[in-house]
Amino acid sequence: MGEDPLGLATTPSGNLVNDTITLNNGVRIPSIGFGVFQSSPEETAVAVETALKAGYRHIDTAAGYGNEREVGDGIRRSDIDPAEVFVETKVWVSDYGYDQTLHAFEKSATKLGISQIDLLILHQPMPQHFERTVGAYRALERLLDDGHVRSIGVSNFMPHHLAALREQTTVVPAVNQVELHPYFTQPDVQRANAESGILTQAWSPIGGITFYPGWGENRASVLEDGTIRRIAETHGKTPAQVMLRWHLQQGRSAIPKSTDPGRIAQNIDVFDFQLDTDELTEIDALDRGIRGGPDPDGVDPSTWDVEIPEP
Ligand code: A2P
Repeated sequence: MGEDPLGLATTPSGNLVNDTITLNNGVRIPSIGFGVFQSSPEETAVAVETALKAGYRHIDTAAGYGNEREVGDGIRRSDIDPAEVFVETKVWVSDYGYDQTLHAFEKSATKLGISQIDLLILHQPMPQHFERTVGAYRALERLLDDGHVRSIGVSNFMPHHLAALREQTTVVPAVNQVELHPYFTQPDVQRANAESGILTQAWSPIGGITFYPGWGENRASVLEDGTIRRIAETHGKTPAQVMLRWHLQQGRSAIPKSTDPGRIAQNIDVFDFQLDTDELTEIDALDRGIRGGPDPDGVDPSTWDVEIPEP
């Protein structure tokens, strides 16, 4: 591998490859991960295979997405050494509690077809049953100690959830994955994460997600935003690429989702340009403080009645 002008690694053919971020326990995570939320099982294996061939080396899934098995299939079909692929998955709230979460690891690992998971995180805090959330996290600590997972973390934890968790547990989460795009930047969450050495990872990093029918249908699309489009034109890049670059330059991991081969390739082709400080500031100023997804304080098992099946 050679070096490009930005100091990023390149292949012998000159193609830039994904860069990595070092987590608080020394494990390296590719900064751009491939997201598969709302990818149907039928689409997922092909999308994962396409993504790995396009240069991704990090896949983000979840037990609750119902496609872990197909993620594993996609990795095997890609002919890329599975050891080179960083796999991140999430424990769903119906599996919280110490013993249940130990078993949730077995279910996920079996479906993925791997013995060790690179990053296992709690999908949501469960504020109305926080003792089960703590039990689940203690199980992650045990799995880390036993070498079944290489790193552990959380998702959708607001600063008060993080503080409550940290009072009762030992290992600082490596990652907190939260909704984060130019229209919803959560500066308080980013600050709390940074103060504890937790990597902020952006879900819906280009603001493209629409959850369920009727939810977010009238929301303005950040992909159409005039400021983002102007900056994209300046660099000869797309709005999605500008947003991904904004995440990377501010030190975040981002996990764009796509099932379209062209957009899958586009979303990893973000290592050959740089936004300047004024552009980063302009994008920060687009924040509207309005979530596209659910409020983490409102989630409990009855919100989404999903049970994670046995393999
Ligand atoms: P598709 O799968 O058809 O490409 P996010 O990861 O921010 O939630 O965005 C995911 C949504 O944005 C999906 O609907 C995806 O649709 C779409 N998308 C992904 N990449 C791009 C892109 N480069 N440009 C425009 N839309 C995109």
